[in-house]
Formats: sequence, structure tokens, C-alpha cells
Amino acid sequence: MSEDLKRQAAAMALRCVEPGMRLGLGTGSTARHFVDLLGEKVAAGLDCICVPTSEVTADQARSLGISLSDLDHLDRLDLTIDGADEIDSRLNLIKGGGGALLREKIVAAASDAMIVIADASKLVQTLGRYPLPIEVNRFGLGATTRAISEITKAHGAEGGIRLRDASSGVPFVTDGGHLIVDAFFGRISQPEALSRDLLDIAGVVQHGLFLNMCKTAYVAAPDGVRTLSSGKTFWDNRGKNDDRSDFAR
Ligand code: A5P
Repeated sequence: MSEDLKRQAAAMALRCVEPGMRLGLGTGSTARHFVDLLGEKVAAGLDCICVPTSEVTADQARSLGISLSDLDHLDRLDLTIDGADEIDSRLNLIKGGGGALLREKIVAAASDAMIVIADASKLVQTLGRYPLPIEVNRFGLGATTRAISEITKAHGAEGGIRLRDASSGVPFVTDGGHLIVDAFFGRISQPEALSRDLLDIAGVVQHGLFLNMCKTAYVAAPDGVRTLSSGKTFWDNRGKNDDRSDFAR
């Protein structure tokens, strides 16, 4: 069921893709559906060039015959399509559950528009129920985690912080060779201030708060795919929307 909803959201985003576009390709199980659907369009003749946000997505895209490039060769992208771990009422996001937050943020920041695709379980009134991923340099890990602990406590983290493990029990390593500390807030009441405070820590490479980056989200529920636009609440966006009139560049 959930995979079906993710695919429906991905199919809505695919309708925003036009020939010749430069696209950012997200990471995660929802983005994976989008890349699959894009691959079908490419096989049918669609011309586009894409920048992947992870090695996993790059491998998938290559296997489908999607042309890839990078941000050394393309200065801007038209559109990035990606999933999210949480989406609040302003379309602020938590991302990085899959560990790709740094490349995801770089690619989204280089894009004229970011569309998020998700099933409705990702909607929250306030960010923070999902652990916030914080990507850190390996060097100075002890000092960095102590500083993160102080900052996250000051911002009301209820559950502390934890270095992310791979399934094998060794630390999870990102595509960029960094580590991830997950911070358990419960509720993030001041995301902008938290973002600034985390980025002030020397060993923090990036964090998973994506603030004011997403203007449109396609969110699939059993009763249809809803188009959410930033500046409106979920409830202003009631009802099915089966066209792309709310696509805000
Ligand atoms: C990857 O690092 C993440 O930012 C994903 O975009 C996010 O975790 C959503 O993933 P799913 O679509 O698998 O829920």
C-alpha cells in the first residue's frame, strides 16, 4: 500500500518534467519510484540530464539509461525531485534518513525548484518526531558530538543524540566519507535558530533541516494525491488535485 502511494506521488511529479530539463534526482524509497518512472520516459525518448544525490541513485539511473552529469558541468538545475522524512505545514523538511542529506541539500540549493514526493505519513504539524540527521567530519568526532549535545539540549532535544550505525554495527559512512549523528528532539520549535547553531559547530558538515527550499509537495493518501504549496496550510490545500496548476517554480 505504502509503496503504491509513494509511486502515485512520484507519478504526479513526473508530470512536471519537460523535455530538455536538467533534473536533480533524490534518494530513498520514494525517489526510487520517481527514477523508475523517469527511466520509462527516457526509454520512450524523453531527453533530460540528471544529477543524482547519492551513489545508489546514480547506479539506479545508469541502469535505466538516464543521462547523468554533475554540478561541475551544470551550473543550475531546473528541478529537483526528492523524498522527505518529515514535512511540516510550511513545507520545511527533515531529510537524511537514508544518509544522503549533504548531496541532497547541495543539489536542491542548485535547483530553481524542489518538489517533494511522499505518502501522507510524512506530514507533521511540528518537525522533530523523526530524528534529525547531522552529518559530521570524522576528525574531532568527540569534540563535535559534545558540542552537538549542548546545542541540541539547549533546543529542547528530549532524547539525546546517537552516532548512526550501519547494520553491521560499525558507524554508517556517507557518500562523502562523513559520519552521521542523529538527534532525537521530539519537537523542534525554532528550526531556523537550530539550523544556524548547528552550522556554527566547526565539525558539522550539514544537517537535515531543509528550510524554505521546497515550494511544492505531492503527498499521496488513500483518497488521492494532494498538492501542497508553501505559504498555505495542509488544510488550505484540501482535496484532490490532478493537474499541475500549483507547481510553483
Ligand atoms: C535520504 O537521505 C533521505 O533524505 C530521503 O529522501 C528520505 O529519508 C525519504 O526517504 P523515503 O522516501 O525512503 O521515506
